[in-house]
Amino acid sequence: MTRNWWKESVIYQIYPRSFNDTKGDGIGDLQGIIQKLDYLKELGVDILWLSPIYQSPNDDNGYDISDYYRIMPEFGTMDDFDELLEQVHERDMRLIMDLVVNHTSDEHRWFRESRTSKNNPYRDFYYWRDTPPNNWQSIFGGPAWEYDEVTDAYYLHLFTKKQPDLNWENPKVRKEVYKMMRFWLDKGVDGFRMDVIPFISKRLDFPDADYSDFNKVIAEVYANGPRLHEFLQEMNREVLSRYDVMTVGEAPGVSPELANLYVGESRKELSMIFHFGHMFLDHGPGGKFDIQDWKLSEFKAVINTWDEAIGQEGWINIYLDNHDFPRLVSRWGNDDAYHEQSAKCLATLLMTLRGTPCIYQGTEIGMTNVAFDSFEHYRDVETLNMKAGWEKEGRDLDKLLKAVHRQGRDNVRTPMQWNDDPHAGFTSGEPWIKINPNYTKINVDDTLQDPDSIYYFYRQLMQIRKDHPSLIYGNYEMIDGNSEQVFAYRRWDEEGVFYIFLNFSEEKAEMVGSPDKGAFQLLCTNYEDEIMTEQLRPWEARIYRMV
Ligand code: GLC
Repeated sequence: MTRNWWKESVIYQIYPRSFNDTKGDGIGDLQGIIQKLDYLKELGVDILWLSPIYQSPNDDNGYDISDYYRIMPEFGTMDDFDELLEQVHERDMRLIMDLVVNHTSDEHRWFRESRTSKNNPYRDFYYWRDTPPNNWQSIFGGPAWEYDEVTDAYYLHLFTKKQPDLNWENPKVRKEVYKMMRFWLDKGVDGFRMDVIPFISKRLDFPDADYSDFNKVIAEVYANGPRLHEFLQEMNREVLSRYDVMTVGEAPGVSPELANLYVGESRKELSMIFHFGHMFLDHGPGGKFDIQDWKLSEFKAVINTWDEAIGQEGWINIYLDNHDFPRLVSRWGNDDAYHEQSAKCLATLLMTLRGTPCIYQGTEIGMTNVAFDSFEHYRDVETLNMKAGWEKEGRDLDKLLKAVHRQGRDNVRTPMQWNDDPHAGFTSGEPWIKINPNYTKINVDDTLQDPDSIYYFYRQLMQIRKDHPSLIYGNYEMIDGNSEQVFAYRRWDEEGVFYIFLNFSEEKAEMVGSPDKGAFQLLCTNYEDEIMTEQLRPWEARIYRMV
């Protein structure tokens, strides 16, 4: 397998709006990120991924871009950006940008032009039809075709109606996108995280979709369109191949069987993708707010199937949370009695699977979900649209609120908890969204003073990963697939053999298939007293290394 810097790195995702505010307007900014670069360097991450920082009316917090060449004024200026990039590079870290090109904002100049008349030169930058050709629904609720009075026609938007989908069939659109990518790469950015990239090629027969299973619609109708790989190869040829950069595609609707079409090295498309296999395990047929229980055996099956499918040909990104999903410790762990142990246990998983790990801001200190008592405190357009939809249909809003406490995207969008000052040290003003009230207990300052904190455990794990390339490039093999309690696997190659045991429960667990103690040394555990008990304690994680 080819060795690359982006395989050996750890990514840290910054959601700029909620990271650090230096202006006092309650919104994080670029200077705020610059201020915290030493903190990130100390943590040991290599690549910073910034969620969108471009000009945007913020219908979807920057995932609706109105100008790809400008910085959102709330976040700062292009000078701030240049300074940020320089400061990141000075610290030997890298920076990747979010590339959102499935859609723009409806306030983008292209769309404003496009909607003025049927023969405007920008008309074909988007999908317009005189009548909706199908029953498609937006991922955030409501119909995906929006009526526009000006030309008495409908345009397509797979997300909110302020996010019209770009028409990639039009070569002028592709040319504009490539030009914009070059603009950022020429500045020196180190790559892109590509937003919903499997959606850019549409099925032009526009078939009706069956919404009894939303995830199936995504996989079979919205994603993996007929010209997708042609477009990605063109993008690679025209742009990416000319720079030493990495790309990570967000890949909803991509099955393991299709994965190497995106990331197989010989395909010359993307460096890696991140899949949604595990992220959908607790979604019922009605989608993410129709919550169902998930089983560890299913979770492991997802990881195994993906590892096997990628094989030696491609590469993936490993994540357990991001700005679209609940906090890792609240979702997969126990954010109450075993907060610290389970957060560390999940950190061990994140850092020892085969792939490039991504840490979402705040996860390194064990930040948790939040449960606001009323919809008025929520800001996410997905949650608010869902509420409007449920209200219209006369459904039980208390039930939705409970589901939002578990699945809503604002769980991960509350501001970073830096200290126990008012507003958690995030801002001197009124934060754009309320702070999680547990900031007095969970915050960076405290974590830095406690040598046993989750933060230092992440640091230790990242060092272990760097010291032992077998944990990066080595094979992966699961040990006891059926256990609903323990996730155990082996990582190995010519240079080393490692066993990883993770107890995903509040009870003690047997270490089935544990290695011969004489030949192995305990490299790392999340319990302070390193007693080598025969059984794993609740949420215990152990890494053994063959000596
Ligand atoms: C991706 C982003 C999400 C956004 C959506 C539309 O899924 O991660 O935050 O709302 O695309 O751009």
